[in-house]
Amino acid sequence: MKRKRILSGMQPSGQLHLGNYFGALKNWVALQDEFECFYFIADWHSLTTLYEDPHLINKYIFEVAVDWLSSGLDPGKCTLFVQSRIPEHAELHLILSMMVPVPWLERNPTYKEKQDEVKNVDMSSFGFLGYPILQTADIVLYKAHFVPVGIDQAPHLELSREIIRRFNNLYKKKVFIEPAAKISEIPKLNGTDGRKMSKSYDNAIYLSDSEEQITKKVRSMLTDPARGRRGDPGDPKVCNLFPLHKIYSPQPMQDEIDSACRKAEIGCGDCKMKLVSTMLENMRPNMEKRCEIASKPKEVEEILCAGTEKARKVAAATLQEAKVAMKIA
Ligand code: TRP
Ligand code: SF4
Repeated sequence: MKRKRILSGMQPSGQLHLGNYFGALKNWVALQDEFECFYFIADWHSLTTLYEDPHLINKYIFEVAVDWLSSGLDPGKCTLFVQSRIPEHAELHLILSMMVPVPWLERNPTYKEKQDEVKNVDMSSFGFLGYPILQTADIVLYKAHFVPVGIDQAPHLELSREIIRRFNNLYKKKVFIEPAAKISEIPKLNGTDGRKMSKSYDNAIYLSDSEEQITKKVRSMLTDPARGRRGDPGDPKVCNLFPLHKIYSPQPMQDEIDSACRKAEIGCGDCKMKLVSTMLENMRPNMEKRCEIASKPKEVEEILCAGTEKARKVAAATLQEAKVAMKIA
């Protein structure tokens, strides 16, 4: 039986952090055994925010690829590629853009949210408004059945489905299939300062951080503010550090900390050192793997080239089908 197909993309915005890993990448790795997976680096999407510094993008593509491979994405199981090396994405984006009413795009909640959020770049571009159209092109070119995304991306996917229905209705042929979102359960992970983990807040722990950097970052983490002094009891539920224990530490240790914290029997400093030790133990194999992969840029490039070649054949065939349906082939 043919496996169902999955497609997902990630913008290259530098090294990946734990939020990216637990929010998406870990799930991608799990899916590669069961599905036919296409994963790509959405470098054209990243131009919506990086257009003033495009020279960074190639470096970021490499970093993301290294993080992917060291986290367990296996080019023997899934297809890894770079969006901008497949011009069919741009061509289909253009074609679709002719039939998508602008109000559909303006209604997209992330459009306004991101404009309010990003202050250092002008986000009023035509390209940013059309971001969901490019994303739709990405998905339909591979006839993906499922798209693993975070809950915040769900409106984009709904819009994609609307665009697909419009295309199929206009040309009376089901060229594209409507993908379903595959929303994964994501542990709530904040950055060291208690805000959402994000590169732009400078509060992230990266997959590429050294043991020293991780130790330093964990030690600097905000904990339950009620524990002003060592003798003040705390509550792991409001502590910014505890979610990491939930990920990395064994259950008995979690239980012990939970009770000791509430009775002020453990200090935050000791609690942090316990976390550092379970975290490093857990991350060490991937950290070593990462160093090894990063030292072989040619091999990384070969993997992306091979994946791109394979993906392009699929994309070109679908684009041709779409043009035939439109009678413009
Ligand atoms: N918008 C996604 C993000 O920023 C990246 C992306 C681009 C994507 N095209 C996609 C995700 C297609 C899923 C499917 O994370
Ligand atoms: Fe958080 Fe641990 Fe301090 Fe409790 S003891 S507040 S769980 S860091």
